[in-house]
Amino acid sequence: MTQEPTNPNPMPQGSAALGQRLRLREPDDWHLHLRDGAMLKAVAPYSARQFGRALVMPNLQPPVITVAMAEAYSRRIGEALAGEQTEHFRPFMTLYLTDNTSCEEVDRAAQSPHVLAFKLYPAGATTHSDAGVTNLQALDPVFERMAEKGVVLCIHGEVTTPEVDVFDREARFIEERLIPLRHRHPELRIVFEHATTREAVDYVRQANAPIAATITPQHLLYNRNALFRSGLRPHYYCLPVLKREPHRQALVAAATSGSPRFFMGTDSAPHDRTLKEADCGCAGCFSAPFALELYAQVFDEAQALDRLEAFASHFGADFYGLPRNAGEVELLRQDHCIADRLSHEGHTLVPLAAGQVLRWQYAGRLESSLPRSQSLQVSSA
Ligand code: NCD
Ligand code: ZN
Repeated sequence: MTQEPTNPNPMPQGSAALGQRLRLREPDDWHLHLRDGAMLKAVAPYSARQFGRALVMPNLQPPVITVAMAEAYSRRIGEALAGEQTEHFRPFMTLYLTDNTSCEEVDRAAQSPHVLAFKLYPAGATTHSDAGVTNLQALDPVFERMAEKGVVLCIHGEVTTPEVDVFDREARFIEERLIPLRHRHPELRIVFEHATTREAVDYVRQANAPIAATITPQHLLYNRNALFRSGLRPHYYCLPVLKREPHRQALVAAATSGSPRFFMGTDSAPHDRTLKEADCGCAGCFSAPFALELYAQVFDEAQALDRLEAFASHFGADFYGLPRNAGEVELLRQDHCIADRLSHEGHTLVPLAAGQVLRWQYAGRLESSLPRSQSLQVSSA
């Protein structure tokens, strides 16, 4: 038996010098959980601070299954943000695909300026997925209509059969569900969400268009050892679960490859601390407050900072057929320690990488943008 490779230093040194600045076109988060009510008010400002747009997941309780519900949710997101942030941040919505989704709902989604995609959760795959799909093939008319109208299908790619090992669920989904689905609907635009395995990135890289994948910061930064470092670490538990080190390396290679098929989607999924540190703790890592810093860490370690902008700000917009953002943001090369807890009225949240030192710090939006030819340079302050 070969010994499992370990990531000896989860936060190794990168290449840039202290005080350097990294300027990027304003990025987008193509996979985000904002929740509702008090939690929405607590977490939405973090994403609005760093991102121009986000694709908001529909797994509320009850799930967001119609365009009318999505538009109402979009308004609540707007209300949760202060005036200035509302101007800078645009949430796009997803609809939760169920066994009962109709072709008419697809038509309404295609016409809504707020809705960009449907989200497929296999029933029981993750947080609040009880209403998920039980029989993919039965939805073929709906997929046909989505393909016709150019509506994107975002997929949580894991089989849910209890006999299948939790670490094999993604690879099995590709073989047993995704390949047949794409065979039946080759024109359907698909985003394979939160890819976590070498099998997933290999498949997405080689498959016939149109397909792409999002990759989260936690799957780029950590392997499954992070779940068990000196004890059980619930804040590193998300779904799909962290995988072995060779998978992490394959994800880093894909994200930093410059391929337009891979782009940013944090899957920031906040749960109150008491629900994470529990007998049956919820899945989800809360990365929104330091999302760009976490990705910058990965790209820096991979000596690929020059490729961060395309991953963060170009490829996702291109895939969704939207213009790239016009503004710019800046990161500063400066060590800083991630807070252990973030408290908001009624909620305590533990951010991803709590207590760890990151090399890049988000410095905010740039008021006056330099010409595009001068952006994306790591320059001295
Ligand atoms: C997400 C959540 O909490 O809503 N959890 C997670 O671990 N990623 C659901 C999901 O995206 O699977
Ligand atoms: Zn998610």
